[in-house]
Amino acid sequence: MVVPETQDKMYYPPEDLQRDAHVPDFNSYLALYRKSLDNPEAFWKDIADEFFWKKPATGPMLQYNFDVTKGSIYVKCMEGAKTNMCYNVLDRHVREGNLGDKVAYYWEGNSPDRHETITYRQLLSQVCRCANVLKQMGVKKGDRVSIYLPMIPELVYTMLACARIGAIHSVVFAGFSSESLCERIMDAQSSVLVTADGVFRGEKLINLKQIADEALQKCREKDSCSVTKCVVVKHHVLRTRSGAACNKLQTPWDAEYDVWWDEAMTDSPEECEPEWLDAEDPLFILYTSGSTGKPKGVLHAVAGYLLYTSLTFKYVFDHHHDDVFWCTADIGWITGHSYITYGPLANGATSVLFEGIPVHPHVGRFWEIIEKYRVSKFYTAPTAIRLLMKYGREPLQKYDLSSLRILGTVGEPINPEAWQWYHEAVGQGRCPVVDTFWQTETGGHVLAPLPAATPLKPGSATFPFFGVEPTILNEHGEELEGEAEGYLVFRRPWPGIMRSVYRNHERFENTYFKKFPGFYVTGDGCRRDKDGYYWITGRIDDMLNVSGHLMSTAEVEAALAQHPSVAEAAAVSRPHTVKGECLYCFVTLKDSREFNRTLEEELKRLVREKIGPIATPDFIQNAPALPKTRSGKIMRRILRQIARNDHDLGDLSTLADPKVVEVLFSQRREAAA
Ligand code: PRX
Repeated sequence: MVVPETQDKMYYPPEDLQRDAHVPDFNSYLALYRKSLDNPEAFWKDIADEFFWKKPATGPMLQYNFDVTKGSIYVKCMEGAKTNMCYNVLDRHVREGNLGDKVAYYWEGNSPDRHETITYRQLLSQVCRCANVLKQMGVKKGDRVSIYLPMIPELVYTMLACARIGAIHSVVFAGFSSESLCERIMDAQSSVLVTADGVFRGEKLINLKQIADEALQKCREKDSCSVTKCVVVKHHVLRTRSGAACNKLQTPWDAEYDVWWDEAMTDSPEECEPEWLDAEDPLFILYTSGSTGKPKGVLHAVAGYLLYTSLTFKYVFDHHHDDVFWCTADIGWITGHSYITYGPLANGATSVLFEGIPVHPHVGRFWEIIEKYRVSKFYTAPTAIRLLMKYGREPLQKYDLSSLRILGTVGEPINPEAWQWYHEAVGQGRCPVVDTFWQTETGGHVLAPLPAATPLKPGSATFPFFGVEPTILNEHGEELEGEAEGYLVFRRPWPGIMRSVYRNHERFENTYFKKFPGFYVTGDGCRRDKDGYYWITGRIDDMLNVSGHLMSTAEVEAALAQHPSVAEAAAVSRPHTVKGECLYCFVTLKDSREFNRTLEEELKRLVREKIGPIATPDFIQNAPALPKTRSGKIMRRILRQIARNDHDLGDLSTLADPKVVEVLFSQRREAAA
């Protein structure tokens, strides 16, 4: 890697940002990057020294085996050390850092007239009370707690309460269906579920408790249900209920299991001694789609995740004490875990916690919030940018966005048009755009610019973060030098990488380490240009990315196949102007069944019910037959081309019956996607 000399359109860091930046220029980045690879022990030790360790490490900062041919895959960080995540992100600031009165979160409700301010001291007190409630319910170190909550302060309280007592949290995005929640509770074998009565998302009222009850009922039907208590936050009743809406929601109640949050918290003590955990003890499980259909419980460990989320937050957003940071992701995804909960709190930062959606009650909602809290660092997804771009610059012009200094994106490749708009219209041309590439599995950013150091090329996640060593392999596992395109892999771990798939280490090894022994395989394609910049080209497995959310085609196909009329189903991705990608599905019906609008609606509803609204297919096409190889494998490549109306099909010699393709082309579904 060298200081880039290029003909491409480059965006250089603004000088005012460089003046007080943690990494003020590209050479400083290069020097630190080299240190992180050449002397990881010293590099990570310096970072670890900023945190509290009840007992120091006896082992090195990082130990690992990345080669399946040499034995089981493992990563260990600071073996022998004892610490507590919650202590480090709260008590350390309140007790040692005099940050008790600093605002940790500005909570902004779905409706603009609902908001709360939570200081570090208040956060610590709520977390301790919640931790005591969980303890009272019998939750101990290593037990799992499922959290099915909207974007409200209690979500953060519960996560940190788990971290405090050594319980493993499993947050399930509150847009997931009861079926998805059930699957995740069963896999984690959680003893407690924390949910809320209801929540408004935009104008839609969602009865979360009812969905949670359905999930628990499904668990009982499938097996014995591990959940013994369900704690219910009175969010709707206490915070958002208004007018006619209050009558719409009936909270189902089972006195044997259900406990109201506020009643349990009332007498709960404000002191709770943290549980001192081993550095490698699990912190949380977060489920992510797997290409075989069943979601994988990605497991992260305490010390490594603390070091890594803290450092990436500090450097990639160039965090300073008086910043107001806003990440618009939901905490139900890794982006929220790392950059709403842990990374910002580890740095003693002030964040916005937003419950609502970008277009309610008006399309200027994001800009209104930026003005209201004087947000200086703003982090969102390309899909949100593309959505807001459709409304033009007018909604932006009503608000003062002069507080903004750095903009970030995550979740999917950002197209240059959206990048430009973000940079010009939102950032008024003065804010660097940090395009951060990472995954649930990586814990934090792995490819990302540093805002005061890295010259930007729109659409590129630029260079590796400290400690990360990417390389590009071809199909045969050979490393490609210089300008190249192929599989993006990593040669060594960094502290924040996942440790296992919960209760399935074999799946962890098979998914990420088997294809190319010696490397962690991301599943993404990638190009390196002549200046060494990395450009993510998208998934190369059977996964797709809808609005920044990863899902597997197998999961959608399994849902479609449950319909009594469906004999076979195949789902592929198709480009979408706002969502990035959307689902285009092919269904072959059983004999004598008719494909019509009613069936199409039923199928869409089925997928929504099984997985959740984000997985709703945009298109469903009747397929009298699917294109298959002679050995019976569905040729998804061809289906993808049919979905895109791309007739340049290339080699069809392995196809069993080429006529199928013509029929599918003639029947394809066209719409303004
Ligand atoms: O395909 C890549 C895409 O999102 C995938 C990871 O999804 P998930 O685990 O849900 O985490 C999303 C938030 C970190 C990746 O394998 N992806 C993520 N960030 C980018 C991206 N693709 C291109 N550019 C990015 N900046």
